[in-house]
Amino acid sequence: MTLGFSGDVAQYYAKFRRGYPPQVLDTLQAAFGLGTGDVVLDLGCGTGQLAVPLASRVRSVIGVDPEPDMLRLARQSATGQGVHNATWVLGADTDIPAMGALVGQRALAMTVIGQALHWMRHDELFRELTPLFRAGGGIAVVANGTPLWLQDSAWSRSLRRFLEEHFGTRLEATCGTGSRDRLRYAQALGEAGYEDVRETAIEYSDELSVDELIGGVYSAIPADGLPAPADRPAFAEAIRQSLPPELRFTEHVRVSVLTGRIA
Ligand SMILES: C[S@@+](CC[C@H](N)C(=O)[O-])C[C@H]1O[C@@H](n2cnc3c(N)ncnc32)[C@H](O)[C@@H]1O
Repeated sequence: MTLGFSGDVAQYYAKFRRGYPPQVLDTLQAAFGLGTGDVVLDLGCGTGQLAVPLASRVRSVIGVDPEPDMLRLARQSATGQGVHNATWVLGADTDIPAMGALVGQRALAMTVIGQALHWMRHDELFRELTPLFRAGGGIAVVANGTPLWLQDSAWSRSLRRFLEEHFGTRLEATCGTGSRDRLRYAQALGEAGYEDVRETAIEYSDELSVDELIGGVYSAIPADGLPAPADRPAFAEAIRQSLPPELRFTEHVRVSVLTGRIA
């Protein structure tokens, strides 16, 4: 199955997508009382932005993703960082019942889903996961900021105008990061039997160079929409021309961590 995160897009994702600040890992650890006896699942793990740094805090991490190129880079990142307690599994949210049969009931302390729930059937998934959590374990739905072209800044608005014109489409999807989506997910957690549903926000500002900004855009374009390698310099130059004449672009990042626990 390919979803658009293959080939060069996976490489751009690994190189340019923001990781998560340590406070996000602290929040996850505190929410579920994670410790070195625990097994956690990172569903839609991508190139390991959450799975890899989580590994040092628990006994074992299972990273699941349907995109082989993302998994390959996650494994590479783990190996490069000396992480040896992560297992990488090709699969999707629809494989959770089968995975439950493998790991057994009450085996997981947490399932974290970072920037990926909008690809999944979340109502079913939340219900299917409940028997797999140990007491006090549960789900964390993490959103890592707002897409680069939907932010409240002059450079972001310029970027959006350029991309909409280039691709001939309106760019409105917030990929699960918008407040309405977060509310929907919170309600679904409650309806599936999770308790103590709450959102914790971790906010910070960071600066991006124009190359980082362009790399971030490439990491979000579906593989079949990415300009051919020979056309990328011209595409990048057109983005540069569309932006205000600054050397650095300030991004305000709001990481939202929505958690719900099983009693
Ligand atoms: C935007 S990336 C997020 C990667 C990482 N979790 C992060 O926080 O940066 C979304 C990932 O979800 C994966 N994905 C898409 N559909 C999925 C599904 N149905 N089940 C599990 N993962 C899925 C994609 O292959 C991709 O690697």
